Amino acid sequence: MKFVVFGSKGQLGREFCRVFEKDNIKFEGYDLPEIDISDNIIIDKLISNSKPDVIINCASFNDVALAETDYNSAYKTNVLGVSNLAVCCKLHNIKFVHYSTDYVFDGNKKELYTEDDVPNPLNNYGKSKLEGEQFVVNNLSNFLLFRLSWLYGDGKQNFMYKILNLIKNRDSISVSDDEFSIPTSTRLAAEITILALKNNLTGLFHLVNTGAASRYEWIKELFEIKNINKPLIKAKMNDFNSPVKRPQFSPLSNEKISKALNITIPSWKEELNKFFVNFDYII
Ligand SMILES: NC(=O)c1ccc[n+]([C@@H]2O[C@H](COP(=O)([O-])OP(=O)(O)OC[C@H]3O[C@@H](n4cnc5c(N)ncnc54)[C@H](OP(=O)(O)O)[C@@H]3O)[C@@H](O)[C@H]2O)c1
Repeated sequence: MKFVVFGSKGQLGREFCRVFEKDNIKFEGYDLPEIDISDNIIIDKLISNSKPDVIINCASFNDVALAETDYNSAYKTNVLGVSNLAVCCKLHNIKFVHYSTDYVFDGNKKELYTEDDVPNPLNNYGKSKLEGEQFVVNNLSNFLLFRLSWLYGDGKQNFMYKILNLIKNRDSISVSDDEFSIPTSTRLAAEITILALKNNLTGLFHLVNTGAASRYEWIKELFEIKNINKPLIKAKMNDFNSPVKRPQFSPLSNEKISKALNITIPSWKEELNKFFVNFDYII
């Protein structure tokens, strides 16, 4: 079994590369600037030469704020790039693994979102990710599509890294206590993806740690783990005057994937505590 990982330098891509190297699994990893998934000629050539059994797409335009003013860039990677990979997978009979987000939902449900809920993204990032999803679902049958949320791992594209960076030069920090989702580790995302592949699952699944948290609760736990004693101040989403609309309540239910694999997924708190046993950010 051979894998190709796109977005191999990102948080999730690095996690897969680490696991594959550790377990001696054949894989190739690609990322910008060498390989751009929106270039269909390059992608077709690469896949024709490489002949993988599975493509794992961790490449994504994730800058939620920038997507508001530059939708074209978000579209290029999150829709065009995804459709290029999906077309190649169909042509060469390759299984496609792709990732999306809780930001496809508007947050009005006030209960855990299931795979049957109808998406209604509030911002351009969510819109582009949804378009990417739809291309996969409408054109492939041999795919795994996982929606993740508040992803963290060895990388900078996560809220914890940003807070740790900010608190270095501040006496206190304010974090919203009325914005809810589920912190989810790249470790879990990679482990469950590999398990789902081993079990020949296909389709759309929500892949998150168990529970739900406000951003405030998440960072409070982080400060406890890392013994940070600076004041953490409760704020409201609206206090930050962000030009980007975000769902206020978008925790996903992991029941479908848990049942399909007959597993219990650890709580976000347990996962977070374990994460810092093995890893720390260099800020
Ligand atoms: N981070 C989160 O909080 C979060 C939440 C929910 C869902 N997700 C989803 O989880 C998946 C993995 O996210 P992540 O946090 O690991 O992302 P990440 O750390 O930002 O990594 C994404 C990687 O893709 C690369 N990339 C961007 N555009 C590309 C293109 N056109 N061609 C090739 N590579 C490209 C990026 O390169 P550059 O850095 O050079 O741009 C980066 O190395 C994504 O599908 C994301 O939407 C993430």
